[in-house]
Amino acid sequence: MTLQYTDVRTITTPPYLDWDQGRELVFGLNKALATLTDLAVTYKQAHWNVLGPGFAQLHLLFDQFADETRTYVDTVAERAVSLGGVAHGTLENVAEHTALAPFRAEERDQVQLLRELSRRVERVLDELRDAIETSGEEPVTEDVYIEIARGIEKQRWMLLAHLSGQPLNSGD
Ligand SMILES: [Fe+2]
Repeated sequence: MTLQYTDVRTITTPPYLDWDQGRELVFGLNKALATLTDLAVTYKQAHWNVLGPGFAQLHLLFDQFADETRTYVDTVAERAVSLGGVAHGTLENVAEHTALAPFRAEERDQVQLLRELSRRVERVLDELRDAIETSGEEPVTEDVYIEIARGIEKQRWMLLAHLSGQPLNSGD
C-alpha cells in the first residue's frame, strides 16, 4: 500500500506547511513508524525467548526497551496525523516499509540476541539521522526525530555495554 497524504490536510495541517513539504514529512514519519514498530516487536521477541545467565536482567531490560520504543511509535504516528497525514500502522504497512532485516524467531542465546538487537539499533539510528537531516526545514518534526534518536542511542549504549569485550559480529 502506498503511504498516503490525504485531503484531511486542509483541516489539520499547520498553516506554515505547504503540500509537498507535508507529504514528504508524512512519508518519512510513516517510514519511522514502520521501523520503530518492528524494533519494538523485536524487543518483545527477545524479552520472551532470551536464555542465559543474564536472563532475569535482560528479560526486564528488553521489556523496558519495548515499552520505550512503542512510545516513540506513538509519537511519530501522531506527528504524521498532526501534519494532515494518515498514520500507517497496520502489520502489512510495517512489514512493507521497515528498514530492518527479518528476525530469526528461533534465536534465544543472550549474546546473539544482544548482537542482533545492537545491529538493528544501529540501522534505526542511521534512519533517524537521515530523517533529522531531511526534516531540517521543519524544526518541530526534526525535534521529534532528535528526541527519539536520543532515546535509541541510550538503548544502544546499554545493549553494547552487555557486549563489552566481545566482538559485535562474531558468531554469525
Ligand atoms: Fe512480559
